[in-house]
Amino acid sequence: MSERTADLGVLGMGTMGASLALNFADNGGFTVALGNRTVEKAYGVRDENPELAARLVPTDSIEHFVSTLKSPRVVVLMVNAGKPVDDQMALVLPHLELGDILIDAGNADFNDTVRREAQVKPTGIHFVGMGVSGGEVGARHGPSIMVGGDKAVWERLKPLLEPISAKFDNTPCVDWLGPDGAGHFVKTIHNGIEYADMQMIAEIYGILRDAVGLQPQEMADIFADWNRRDLQSYLIEISALVLAERDPDTGGALVDLIVDEAGQKGTGRWSVIEAQKLGIGATTLEAAVSARGVSSRRQERAEAARIFGNVTTARAEFHADHDGLAELEHALVTAKIIAYAQGYATLAEASREFSWNLPLGEIARIWRAGCIIRSRFLDDITRAYEAGDVVNLLHAPSFTARIEAGQESLRRTVAKAALAGIPVPALSAALAYFDDYRRARGTTNLTQGQRDLFGAHTFRRLDREGVFHHRWPQA
Ligand code: 6PG
Repeated sequence: MSERTADLGVLGMGTMGASLALNFADNGGFTVALGNRTVEKAYGVRDENPELAARLVPTDSIEHFVSTLKSPRVVVLMVNAGKPVDDQMALVLPHLELGDILIDAGNADFNDTVRREAQVKPTGIHFVGMGVSGGEVGARHGPSIMVGGDKAVWERLKPLLEPISAKFDNTPCVDWLGPDGAGHFVKTIHNGIEYADMQMIAEIYGILRDAVGLQPQEMADIFADWNRRDLQSYLIEISALVLAERDPDTGGALVDLIVDEAGQKGTGRWSVIEAQKLGIGATTLEAAVSARGVSSRRQERAEAARIFGNVTTARAEFHADHDGLAELEHALVTAKIIAYAQGYATLAEASREFSWNLPLGEIARIWRAGCIIRSRFLDDITRAYEAGDVVNLLHAPSFTARIEAGQESLRRTVAKAALAGIPVPALSAALAYFDDYRRARGTTNLTQGQRDLFGAHTFRRLDREGVFHHRWPQA
């Protein structure tokens, strides 16, 4: 029987699980039990990190794993979302007791987390859905952590999670965000915003590459310069790194050799499904997810290119001089504000729908470091919420000023790209959302008339109270 020496245990020694376990041992100073279906991987994590070996306890079975844990136990699952989580839960739950905590730290669909938490609650074991953002490096050295579940359980987890989280101005980028699936929901929206951010960067890259004709190193320099101002962010920084990287085999730009088919494990897609279910138009996030879908049909696109060729004769009016680049930079800043406003509108509506009372300003605060969308921009969002209640980020004074300053740049960029036949679906969606959102008199009055004509769905009138059905002439 093993001694109960481990402060917590991590099940799943994949990239993220191993990194998180090492972070708990290294930055947390905790003794960490390591569990994995393939036992050798657990021993491998210890043997590959001799400097931390004294705090790493590889285990041979689930029974052995649980037997090493101090009580009340804390078990962190880091396995692929979906059935693997249910399978691991079925394995470990029978060995846990009243008061123990089981954390799902993977990219779970928050609906699954709500179900699992309700399933486990009667046993007296606490189930926690926890979003972890920052990729492998973040998991190892300091992720942004979004915790859901019972707040009382958060008080027990705080001493474990604060030491391993990313820090911004010395404050930990981890917090309890709300009950049941709140943590995983916030992570899902983080990923939807991440997709939008990455897509808009790719669209500007497409303009610089295809309309201006720049080489990867020239574009790397531009992104590195933009990273010194409003666009300062991890994603802009790594875009410059990816563009500058040379292929060791050919000596050419590696980015030019990468196949243009984007993968997606699902979280971005979930974010737009949930936005739609909440009736929120997260159109820029939707465009980003759709763009990944279109990119994955590479053979079809090659055939379509043969059929249609270059569909426009319009010369691309983009230039890499100071004004030309400033226009693209301001267009990206403006579209980014709009995309984040959509993500935040989804968070706000979910908070109302699920009675979570999400701390929207706090969410921006813990996203300022460690996570994939970390940026100076999130500090502005934090301050906007600190300044008072925000109906929508587009109404926040610090953002309205920037949009007023940059919306013409976005408009010209989208218009010129359209005329040049360069696809900018996310930038276009951001502009259209802005124009739609700021229009006091829209056009869905016609939609309401159509719906009432063919479906008697009724409509309201501007000039009087009530709900009306009109006897329309039939087509
Ligand atoms: C993060 C990232 C990460 C990402 C996966 C899968 O916050 O660390 O968002 O969780 O979701 O690397 O990426 P895709 O969703 O693009 O497949």
